[in-house]
Amino acid sequence: MIDLTGKNALVTGAGRGIGKEIALSLARAGAHVALCDIDPDSAQTAAADVESVGSKALALSANVSDAGEVKEMFSSYFSGFETLDILVNNAGITRDSLIMRLKEEHWDAVLNVNLKSAYLCCKEAARPMMKARGGKIINIASVVGIMGNAGQVNYAASKAGLIGLTKTLAREFASRAINVNAVAPGFIQTAMTDKLSDSDKERLTNQIPMSLLGSPQDVANAVVFLGSSLSGYITGQVLTVDGGLVM
Ligand SMILES: NC(=O)c1ccc[n+]([C@@H]2O[C@H](COP(=O)([O-])OP(=O)(O)OC[C@H]3O[C@@H](n4cnc5c(N)ncnc54)[C@H](O)[C@@H]3O)[C@@H](O)[C@H]2O)c1
Repeated sequence: MIDLTGKNALVTGAGRGIGKEIALSLARAGAHVALCDIDPDSAQTAAADVESVGSKALALSANVSDAGEVKEMFSSYFSGFETLDILVNNAGITRDSLIMRLKEEHWDAVLNVNLKSAYLCCKEAARPMMKARGGKIINIASVVGIMGNAGQVNYAASKAGLIGLTKTLAREFASRAINVNAVAPGFIQTAMTDKLSDSDKERLTNQIPMSLLGSPQDVANAVVFLGSSLSGYITGQVLTVDGGLVM
């Protein structure tokens, strides 16, 4: 059993889906959790669910692609919690289209929310984690950032960029005992994948060796492991949680 008692965590995009499950799972392991979402109501509701697990929860609202909002969000975080032991950069969006029809605003939106947000949040987390001489940063990437996916050039580029950011920060922070890793989910049953047609879901499932979509809990389990002391000698890695899709 992984024990995160005494640890404080911040999860972005925690109002629903994978982020909410990560927050709940960290709390079940004993951590106190701050839940940040662009949608304040969902952050509040998810924080109430975390409190019912028995952990301290803090609901924070910010657009994590905006530098000013991220700064304010971190200052609210540190009014509630003294340390930042685990940062999970999970907020992400899709704006899918083949490149010929892909609008520049959709390229920018996806790169900003999925990649720039991690740069902004890691920058804010760096000083307190370095001062504490320890910490865990976990970036939620995607298998699409490894293998590409027709119709998702913006999303795939953002997730490949997140993997590059993860490996680079792992090198920059290694001597300070800060582990930086990525989790790359495959196809997980959430609002993001509910948008797919039944035929698309069937086509995707047929490509997965385990022949099923994953659950938010499958991703959260990997995050709890990487957030714990059990991952002490692991940094700069990409852990795929995908039923064997990428191997
Ligand atoms: N669902 C999948 O199959 C799948 C697969 C691979 C990777 N992922 C990644 O996992 C993460 C979570 O995905 P999900 O399926 O739970 O998505 P989701 O759409 O269900 O939830 C995303 C959450 O992020 C929040 N958010 C969006 N933009 C934000 C912003 N600018 N600032 C703060 N919060 C913001 C949303 O309000 C929402 O609560 C994403 O990074 C996604 O790319 C998902």
